[in-house]
Amino acid sequence: NLDSLDKIVSLSKARGFIFQSSDIYGGLAAVYDYGPLGVELKRNIQENWWKSMTQFHDNIVGVDAAIFMHPKVWEASGHVEGFNDPMIDDKQSKKRYRADMLIEQHIQKLRDKDKDDEADKLQEQLDTTGTRKGLCEDLYDIIMQEEIKAPDSGAFDWTEVRQFNLMFKTHYGATSSGDDDAIYLRPETAQGIFVNYKNVLDTARVQIPFGIAQVGKAFRNEVVARQFVFRMREFEQMEMQYFVEPGTDEESYENWLNARMEWHKSLGIREENLRTAPHPEDKLAHYARAAADIQFKFPIGWQEVEGIHNRTDFDLSRHQEYSGKKMEYYDQKQQKRYTPYVIETSIGLDRCTLMVLCDAYREEEVDGDTRTVLKLHPKLAPTKVGIFPLIKKPELQEVARKIEHELREDYNVLYDESGSIGKRYRRQDEAGTPFCVTVDFDGLEDNTVTIRYRDNMEQERVSIDKLGDVIRDGMRN
Ligand code: GAP
Repeated sequence: NLDSLDKIVSLSKARGFIFQSSDIYGGLAAVYDYGPLGVELKRNIQENWWKSMTQFHDNIVGVDAAIFMHPKVWEASGHVEGFNDPMIDDKQSKKRYRADMLIEQHIQKLRDKDKDDEADKLQEQLDTTGTRKGLCEDLYDIIMQEEIKAPDSGAFDWTEVRQFNLMFKTHYGATSSGDDDAIYLRPETAQGIFVNYKNVLDTARVQIPFGIAQVGKAFRNEVVARQFVFRMREFEQMEMQYFVEPGTDEESYENWLNARMEWHKSLGIREENLRTAPHPEDKLAHYARAAADIQFKFPIGWQEVEGIHNRTDFDLSRHQEYSGKKMEYYDQKQQKRYTPYVIETSIGLDRCTLMVLCDAYREEEVDGDTRTVLKLHPKLAPTKVGIFPLIKKPELQEVARKIEHELREDYNVLYDESGSIGKRYRRQDEAGTPFCVTVDFDGLEDNTVTIRYRDNMEQERVSIDKLGDVIRDGMRN
């Protein structure tokens, strides 16, 4: 029941999932900080991904490469030349716009005026030329047409369309000055894997097919970065590059696409909110032979959460060319040499966290009241168990503290004795805590407590000795 991201943004702030960066200074656009609940949720997703890659595949190993890399890496990868967004400035309002968004606005205006033929033609042009692949020839003319006014700039005075590289540049070393020693913050984690391909091959006793997984920060100077943690300038990626023999790449690509979709479902994301969207051949990135997105139905529409790409031998061949180091693989069984193809699975951890929050968010009518609840999969929930003495009485507090102490060994738990029991339940509903345990006076007699389930709000009396088992069973659902 979400029609925009607003409710997720306010819940995130109010409950401590996600805050705007540098909030007390007015915030920094498109950069976010995770609060106490958010950091747990994000870590749980990350750990789940990491396990699904490394622990569940004996031929996938991990690395943790640095954010700074040799500047040549980004020449080899094609990012220096091609990682651009066409962009245009309005001198009047001093605002910057992404050219493709202005065209989309224009297309919409044409449709509003029933000029569907013109709109279709333009849409096709936009679709086939793409944005990061370069501008269609007459894009500038289109933008200069009178209708394309940004909504909030009355008179407009555009600059020419410029190619804007999305990589952040900084200077390296204490004595650095000019552009000579410019270095980039990595715009994707993938290249840290490609440059370590040989190291892994030489040390990890892996044979093709094998994969390398990594989680880490990436930075993109996105021109338009709204929509909360959907599009950020500093974000985290979870990527896996799977090295295969050429000729087996298409099958491997299909397998990974399916496996990744199953992973999304295993997080408890509702199936009707997930779909795959293959990229049409003429819109493929420069390195890809086939690509598909796994999309989620966000309140802002169907959007990519993860990309699966068949990157062929593009990256390894380019690094061989730029570094002069051989990137070939010798296949002992077949006694032949080849440059492996790469199937890549690439997901944004922040965007995935946003997906999980959106999918879990519900507002439900309860006794004439609205309760907000995050129906997170128990394995992702930041807090697993809330433990409450019914009232602040030493006998109850003592038992509750003891239960807290025991469960803490296995779970992230929270002890809370403030406010009415109903309020405490609601607080935990909003935090997505799947179980709450209340200690009352009856329980002191027969050594029982009440366990209350977040999703159906049912309550059950269980013996304290059995509590651990009951929670363990509940965690698996
Ligand atoms: N190595 C391939 C690669 O980086 P991508 O489609 O550019 O491919 C992969 O990015 C994923 O990273 C996306 O599906 C998205 O989840 C996430 N991502 C990309 N840019 C992002 C941004 N500015 N903010 C948040 N997540 C982003």
